[in-house]
Amino acid sequence: MALSFRPLTPCIGAEVQGLDMRAPLDADTASRLREAWVEHKVLVLHDQPVSDDQHAAFSRHFGELEVHHQGIIKDRTNPAIFKVSNVDDDGNIRPPSDLTMKQLLATKIWHTDSSFRENPAMGSILHGVEVVDEGGQTCFTNMEAVYEALPDALKAKVKGRRCLHDFAYLSVISGGRKPSEEELAAMPAIWQPMVRVHPVSGRKSLYISPIYNEKIEGMEDAEAKRLLDELYEIASDPRFVYEHTWARDDVVMWDNRATMHRILPYDPAKRRIMHRTTIVGDGPV
Ligand code: OGA
Ligand code: MN
Repeated sequence: MALSFRPLTPCIGAEVQGLDMRAPLDADTASRLREAWVEHKVLVLHDQPVSDDQHAAFSRHFGELEVHHQGIIKDRTNPAIFKVSNVDDDGNIRPPSDLTMKQLLATKIWHTDSSFRENPAMGSILHGVEVVDEGGQTCFTNMEAVYEALPDALKAKVKGRRCLHDFAYLSVISGGRKPSEEELAAMPAIWQPMVRVHPVSGRKSLYISPIYNEKIEGMEDAEAKRLLDELYEIASDPRFVYEHTWARDDVVMWDNRATMHRILPYDPAKRRIMHRTTIVGDGPV
């Protein structure tokens, strides 16, 4: 079957047909995927029963793989695999009181991966290993379209401004695991511009990641919070969003440079195991 792309909404997302991630990827197919990834921002592949090694090998066609700075998230044998899973290494479901679980559940808040890094992730590739049959959808919003749609007054407010991205803020909002001294030292908070230009498409997008954002440069905290809330609301508008309902062995890849994502609620007593690779970005924003 020939490679093709079927748009999933008028604004964001396309389904990829005619690709088996386990097969070697030729240069032409890889380059068509790269182009489609920038155009659609989110690519969905069904029926991809990949092993972690196959998942990582496929991902390396798009760049170097990020290794998460937290031991709790990394797979023990394959550090390029992040386990977004409510099942611990001994096979037990994490209770809602578990600090790691709280951190995972905080992804119900819009964010873009690794925005707390000086060189944030270019993309993420998530494999549904065990999925829930109710809830647990992942939503993606097109931040280029969101930026375009901002009223002029808001465009003026974010222009030239920077927002603080702090991994430690995640534990504040989730009541979850406080970063260890090593994690804090490895990941100091960083100011990122609120408007970024996509290195491939040249298009502007709104760059926030509310799961990590507490402060905006030159603004009182209350004003910053109001502005972030307002931007959050606009980013949530269904016309910018694709909502992915998972089937086992779906793989979804998203461009972190022009999207945010969040998860919808699910019953935390049901097993949900997702494995993610993350592609290192081109450099500081
Ligand atoms: C992620 C994430 C969403 C999900 O993997 O980066 O936010 O649906 N996960 O598990
Ligand atoms: Mn994420």
